[in-house]
Amino acid sequence: MKRGCFLTLEGGEGVGKTTNLAFIDDFLRRRGIEVVVTREPGGVPVAEKLRELILDETGLLPEAELLLIFAGRVHHVRDKILPALERGQWVVSDRFVDASYAYQGGGRGLSWRRIEYLEDWLVAGCRPDLTFLFDAPVEIGLGRARARGDINRFEEETVAFLERVRQAYLERWRREPGRICRIDASRPLAEVQEAIAARLSRLVETWRK
Ligand code: TYD
Repeated sequence: MKRGCFLTLEGGEGVGKTTNLAFIDDFLRRRGIEVVVTREPGGVPVAEKLRELILDETGLLPEAELLLIFAGRVHHVRDKILPALERGQWVVSDRFVDASYAYQGGGRGLSWRRIEYLEDWLVAGCRPDLTFLFDAPVEIGLGRARARGDINRFEEETVAFLERVRQAYLERWRREPGRICRIDASRPLAEVQEAIAARLSRLVETWRK
């Protein structure tokens, strides 16, 4: 059985990840691919419980936040992502490890070295094959996220915090331009989805060979 592909969606607040996740799911299913859609923080019951804590608890130390995210992630990877990939299914996750580099690293100021250590220790063997980074100026995304209501503690952060998150994501992209596909999320949705479809078609083709 051929291993499935692991896709992740990343970006700041209000950049359209949810809409495009549905688009990607549909795109792959139409091509006969079995898809497991998931998210972080969360994805499995214990990690969903931790998600509530991570998104709602005020006054969490950055170090505690990082460790809680990885606590959920190790279950997510071992209980759900790896088994699905091994069954030949594709996994599409709304956020993954790059979000820790962006939010806990860029946003909260923790060193990337420590995050790398946790990544190597806990989620080795689970690198995304492809990551879509939805990138837009902070003000645009924040406006959309706030208009939607129901904001979490990250969406209440200062513009400076979210700007650091954006810059950290862009740094990830500059370091791994082969894996990370940057999408200009300030463009009209039709153009965004055209760019996604083009990149996905290539991946499906290579996978089928
Ligand atoms: P988000 O993905 O924006 O979900 P929704 O908008 O659908 O509620 O919320 C998840 C939040 O978790 C997001 O604001 C960023 C944060 N987060 C981190 O800080 N680090 C991480 O490693 C992950 C996966 C998420």
